[in-house]
Amino acid sequence: MFHDINYGDKMKIVITVGGSIIIKDNDHKKFKDYADVLKDMNTEHQLFIVVGGGKPARDYIGIARELKASEAACDDIGIDVTRLNAKLLIMALGEDAYPKVAKNFHEALEFSVSCKIVIMGGTEPAHSTDAVGSILSEFVGADLMINATSVDGLYDKDPNKFEDAKMFNEITPTEMLSILSSKENKAGTYEFLDMTAIQIIKRSNIKTLIVNGEYPKNLQKAVTGEIGTTIVSDHR
Ligand code: UTP
Repeated sequence: MFHDINYGDKMKIVITVGGSIIIKDNDHKKFKDYADVLKDMNTEHQLFIVVGGGKPARDYIGIARELKASEAACDDIGIDVTRLNAKLLIMALGEDAYPKVAKNFHEALEFSVSCKIVIMGGTEPAHSTDAVGSILSEFVGADLMINATSVDGLYDKDPNKFEDAKMFNEITPTEMLSILSSKENKAGTYEFLDMTAIQIIKRSNIKTLIVNGEYPKNLQKAVTGEIGTTIVSDHR
């Protein structure tokens, strides 16, 4: 079976990159910066990258909604945009990337036999690319998942709005779920990994780090656990 794929002593690392990071400025620079770092990392590890949709996805979804599309159809548009972003990252990576965007988890695993960097976007409606990252982590048996986000880690409240927001060095999935369900935070716009992603991290004890993706080199620091927030097991 696929789980028998021999990656040597390489760690399998799944990285989720928010579209709001990689396509924030609507130009090629972040794709290029990410490609440089990912190429470097892939010499030591087997990488799987899940790319988000960002503003272009929200713009397209907005138009679809105005056209009275169903929520699932809007999500489907969003998924297409994540896959476009994934294609751009493949272009930036050149021969270091598997040349096709993986559309599902089976393809991701299959493509990884090449030892090239495997790139995917969304899969099915009703969840985010963060959820895709956690399912992919289960599927390939990842040693580590890194969530590249727009702030330094996971905070108790929106760090862009509250000066006294505190970053967690460590947090458990159960603690995250309780922050997510607290009314106070629901009212605000502070968003981190979605419910599905957290539940999967919880059920499979996926070692996960949340880091600031504005600086792609943070991905390398995440591997050695130097920065960000680490999601630790409920049973630590
Ligand atoms: P994301 O919300 O995952 O993109 O996908 P993102 O860019 O990472 O978001 P930021 O950067 O954190 O803000 C964009 C949209 O695509 C659909 C959803 O509608 C989602 O809002 N999508 C994505 C799915 O329906 N299923 C997927 O598997 C992925």
